[in-house]
Amino acid sequence: MQVLKDKVIFITGGSRGIGLECAHKYKKAGARVVIISNDPKSLDKCRKDYPEPHHLILCDISVASDVEHAIAETLNKYGRIDVIHNNAGIAHPSKPIHETTDEEWTALFNVNLKGVYHTTKFGIEALKVTQGCVLNTSSLVGEIGQEDHAAYAATKGAINALTKSMALDYAKYKIRVNAVAPAGVWTEMLEEWEKERQDNGGTRSYLDGIHALGYCPEGDVVADVCVFLVSAQARFITGVIMPVSGGAELGYRRIDQKKDNNEKINMTT
Ligand SMILES: NC(=O)c1ccc[n+]([C@@H]2O[C@H](COP(=O)([O-])OP(=O)(O)OC[C@H]3O[C@@H](n4cnc5c(N)ncnc54)[C@H](O)[C@@H]3O)[C@@H](O)[C@H]2O)c1
Repeated sequence: MQVLKDKVIFITGGSRGIGLECAHKYKKAGARVVIISNDPKSLDKCRKDYPEPHHLILCDISVASDVEHAIAETLNKYGRIDVIHNNAGIAHPSKPIHETTDEEWTALFNVNLKGVYHTTKFGIEALKVTQGCVLNTSSLVGEIGQEDHAAYAATKGAINALTKSMALDYAKYKIRVNAVAPAGVWTEMLEEWEKERQDNGGTRSYLDGIHALGYCPEGDVVADVCVFLVSAQARFITGVIMPVSGGAELGYRRIDQKKDNNEKINMTT
């Protein structure tokens, strides 16, 4: 059954990584997908998989006029928007906060948070008409924190607060607002982090180990949950931050994992 048949889904950061996996699953579930990205290269790469009735728009979500145009273009084309999935995000830099520059801080907040403000500001009227929903891609670190990523974690903590507050504000329009919170997911974002660390496989075994289920997944695990959350099957769910984390937040794994991981790293060096 196509649970998203004919729905118009506006997904930011849909041209690669978790967003692209979500786009694939939305398409398979019958939706018309509008892929938003600031990266012409990855947009071009996914163009052949997204012919009509899908649509691709080059847009920087941190720039208000870009988002205003992208929403208008979507409404001109389809006459409706059913779902806004705020997925685009950046994680750079990997530093404690006192080393984070003004520019790095501003870029993180402008993309990860202000992007949500922009899509809501320009898209909310369309969602009122369809009684649609908003889905935010948060991160487990918004709840539990992360070493060397304080500014990034702060943007995700803020997304969690936004998700709950927006759920309250828009419930009266029957608009649901939820978030998914992955732990690690193998995408170019993580691959770049792995490259930065140059630790001889240590990052890979660390990332496998932090998940209680024993492996660091790919984006399909997140996308399956996203399909559910934006579908009518989740019609009574709003304001939820849904971990898609293989249990990474459970128990005392971090301490054990550090020990295991050090042993593994020592064995390989
Ligand atoms: N990969 C992980 O381990 C992980 C874990 C938890 C949460 N997340 C979150 O999942 C989301 C997707 O991450 P990913 O790993 O797929 O990243 P990615 O870097 O592979 O893809 C990011 C996407 O966002 C787009 N994007 C970035 N800045 C943009 C901007 N200013 N305007 C428009 N588009 C922009 C990129 O073009 C790309 O399509 C992010 O919000 C990230 O914080 C990722």
